[in-house]
Amino acid sequence: MDSAAIAAIVDAAASLPELEDARVRLLGKKGELTGLLKQLGGMAPDERARFGAHVNALKEEAQARLDSRRATLEARAEEAALAAGWLDVTAPAKDAHRVGRLHPITLLLEEVIDHFTGLGFEIASGPEIEDEWHNFDALNIPKDHPARDVWDTFYTDRGEIPRTHTSSVQVRTLSLRKPPLRIIAPGRVFRNETIDATHHASFNQVEGLLVDRHVTVAHLKHTLETLVTRLMGRELRTRFRPAFYPFVEPGLDLDVECVFCGGRGCGVCKGSGFIELIPGGLVHPEVLRACGHDPSEWQGFAFGMGFDRMVMMRYGIDDIRRLYDGRLGLVRQF
Ligand code: DAH
Repeated sequence: MDSAAIAAIVDAAASLPELEDARVRLLGKKGELTGLLKQLGGMAPDERARFGAHVNALKEEAQARLDSRRATLEARAEEAALAAGWLDVTAPAKDAHRVGRLHPITLLLEEVIDHFTGLGFEIASGPEIEDEWHNFDALNIPKDHPARDVWDTFYTDRGEIPRTHTSSVQVRTLSLRKPPLRIIAPGRVFRNETIDATHHASFNQVEGLLVDRHVTVAHLKHTLETLVTRLMGRELRTRFRPAFYPFVEPGLDLDVECVFCGGRGCGVCKGSGFIELIPGGLVHPEVLRACGHDPSEWQGFAFGMGFDRMVMMRYGIDDIRRLYDGRLGLVRQF
């Protein structure tokens, strides 16, 4: 066994497994170079020293050749893989999906949309910058009427209104379309509020509107109760209280059993056992009339939920600012 023989064996290996065979053949326990050392026993001492050094040099040379052949074969394997195309260097990193998550508002909104589209409702939208007519007048909120003060309205320099509620989408839809119709309108609204843990100057509402013949409060009640059951994952006790909103008559607030104390009374529900969740009512005849429909022919129900509170209840978020301060990511807009 000499250098040339070693080189021939190593270079003949055309793949990594073959290279391993070559290594075993040369340097393994029963390998050829290892075998040479066994001859030492029968040699005279000076011959033994010379031969031993010679075999060790051969072993080192074999190891060096094996290492360099391995580098060559590995580089070749990589090139072949690239050429074959299965090593896609543009593929997303395996854990990339862990980087982002849908915003809680988006998650719950998708459930709301799924619920209502299942009931035959369509998704409607309107502009975030409105005019007085769509935001107030057509909703039976006359200029200079004290009811208008309820909405802490922003005005732009040009007298436009960043909509104070999604009820403007009721007007947009009713002015363009003929009943019967059912829509929900999720969207951002704006109010001149001092921002704290429960108030924000920009938040989300989901408006609902159904106009048809012979619509009653019972339809509204059932629609909202099934929504609450779906969103909160179980049936909660509910109650309607009379309330005033200029665009509905009668106007009602749906209260839902406090999920924090099970209705026994706690700090969150201020001892009442109920949380005010969804305002609504039957569409006021003046609204139908303003949008060109005959209120003796058509009735409807409407509701407009503050969506952020819903999201906070569902996900246990105790500060509305967390929904918007960027730590939770982007909210999908509709
Ligand atoms: N637009 C009202 C608000 O922002 C909420 C509301 C109340 C909407 C009653 C409705 C309704 O559609 O019927 O305060």
